[in-house]
Amino acid sequence: VKNDRESMMAVSGFAQKFFTNQLLKSDEGRSVGLSYLRSRGFRDDIIQKFELGYSPEAKTALTDEALKNSYKLEFLEKAGLTIVRDNYKADRFRGRVIFPIHSISGKPTAFGGRVLKTDKKTAKYLNSPESEIYHKSRILYGIFHAKTEITKKDRCFLVEGYTDVISFHQAGITNVVASSGTALTVDQIRLIARFTPNITIIYDGDPAGIKASLRGIDLVLEQGMNVKVLLLPEGEDPDSFSKSRSAEELQAYITKHEGDFIKFKTGLLLKDAENDPVKRAGLLQDIVKTISVIPDAIVRGEYVKECSALMNVTEQVLYNEIAKLTKKSR
Ligand code: CTP
Ligand code: MN
Ligand code: MN
Ligand code: MN
Ligand code: MN
Repeated sequence: VKNDRESMMAVSGFAQKFFTNQLLKSDEGRSVGLSYLRSRGFRDDIIQKFELGYSPEAKTALTDEALKNSYKLEFLEKAGLTIVRDNYKADRFRGRVIFPIHSISGKPTAFGGRVLKTDKKTAKYLNSPESEIYHKSRILYGIFHAKTEITKKDRCFLVEGYTDVISFHQAGITNVVASSGTALTVDQIRLIARFTPNITIIYDGDPAGIKASLRGIDLVLEQGMNVKVLLLPEGEDPDSFSKSRSAEELQAYITKHEGDFIKFKTGLLLKDAENDPVKRAGLLQDIVKTISVIPDAIVRGEYVKECSALMNVTEQVLYNEIAKLTKKSR
């Protein structure tokens, strides 16, 4: 007897094939969905690799087709594909480009659906709800397609979104995953830790992306892992930035501009803090606070050395501040 999970996996697999088929074969999918993806510069081989799809406008297109193929409404609902009320049922995803979210073993367990035209009323992305087979906080978008290369390169690029992951693949960089938004979790970091201790955060070059990078730095360091950050030019995200550049240019830019968190924080704040003792002290406190979350004393020492040189304060002053902070939190 199949249990719920298996039935939900099965119907999710069916849905992925349905959405992909709609995108590539139906008139509506081709004229609306496929042309949208192509207009954004996504190549057909990449569209196929990530099993992108299209959900028709019709109210129960997927549900009808699944029921016809003997899948049960109960599992369509449990997998978040059909919304069921007393005398009413409707597909969750309608008129959207579909990004399947694959488990670590490559099975579609959830979906993200993007509207074709953004407006203020509709959320740009609609995602599957939490379910027995999909825990948003425990999965990373792209992990199945990236895991081998993450191990090989011994580094993982962490980006925000679906299109960021896909565009990096298209540019030839495949050790990349997305936190699907900016709410990075400890479980997501531990998932990366199974393949590498080295993470480079490349979030969007906007205030939300910068704020999330700062938060991500502390989360990664707390796990005893190594973090670098790359700040993209204002208004760019990894998708837009990689589209206008060759693979060589992209790789060169990353190598040149990725830096450790001290350089990231000082670069971000030192410009207006340089001649302002109060702001300088604030920045120093901030850096010290981050250093103090690092579990390994030797690693901590390396960062103290760097901070001391960069900010022109003695190591002893920094150690005193760190001691104060760790005493407080214990
Ligand atoms: N996201 C979401 N729901 C939203 C907005 C964003 O789930 N309403 C998640 C998606 O996984 C998205 C990621 O957060 O990919 C990053 O959001 P954003 O930068 O706004 O979107 P992009 O990925 O840049 O998407 P696009 O390029 O298609 O606009
Ligand atoms: Mn569970
Ligand atoms: Mn963003
Ligand atoms: Mn973005
Ligand atoms: Mn984008």
